[in-house]
Amino acid sequence: MKPIVLYYSRTGHTEKLAQLITADLHGEIIRITPEKEREYRSFRSALRKVAGNRWHKEMKKSITPIPDLTRFDPVFIGFPIWAKDMPDFVADFVSHCDLKGKTVIPFATFGVTGISGAMKTLSRICEGANIVMPFEDGTFRGGDYRKWRHEVRMMMWKME
Ligand SMILES: Cc1cc2nc3c(=O)[nH]c(=O)nc-3n(C[C@H](O)[C@H](O)[C@H](O)COP(=O)(O)O)c2cc1C
Repeated sequence: MKPIVLYYSRTGHTEKLAQLITADLHGEIIRITPEKEREYRSFRSALRKVAGNRWHKEMKKSITPIPDLTRFDPVFIGFPIWAKDMPDFVADFVSHCDLKGKTVIPFATFGVTGISGAMKTLSRICEGANIVMPFEDGTFRGGDYRKWRHEVRMMMWKME
């Protein structure tokens, strides 16, 4: 089956990774779009607002149509880390996708926090999916993309 990459990106970091994965693994790609994009004057001000989890609260819903994933496996899910988790509207979108029996491979970009908080959310919302091989790419601790890609390819060969 063909891989598919479902992702959201606000400032382009996750998008670059999503495009790379799509090209390297010959997949399809869908951007998850929130109902409303919040604006912020500077990155610092965005982080201050996050103290109250405002971004999560104000960006709850996605307007991206739920795709038919029948032909696709694995399903890559990419997002920036916001307030130590995946954005709420990304979780909203993912929770409506039929991922039963699918291999889900999450990837996230962030400053320092890491993907672990989002892994908990994913295991709650990806009912019946096998969530494996998360990839983390932080500003201060970048992941080894080539090594990860190699491991993912090996796994995909075994899936065929
Ligand atoms: C609203 C908001 C909240 C964020 N919260 C966190 C956080 O909790 N931990 C962290 O390490 N980085 C945090 N960041 C930084 C982003 O995760 C990071 O810049 C990411 O690479 C942005 O991805 P993008 O360019 O695909 O939007 C936050 C950024 C924004 C805008």
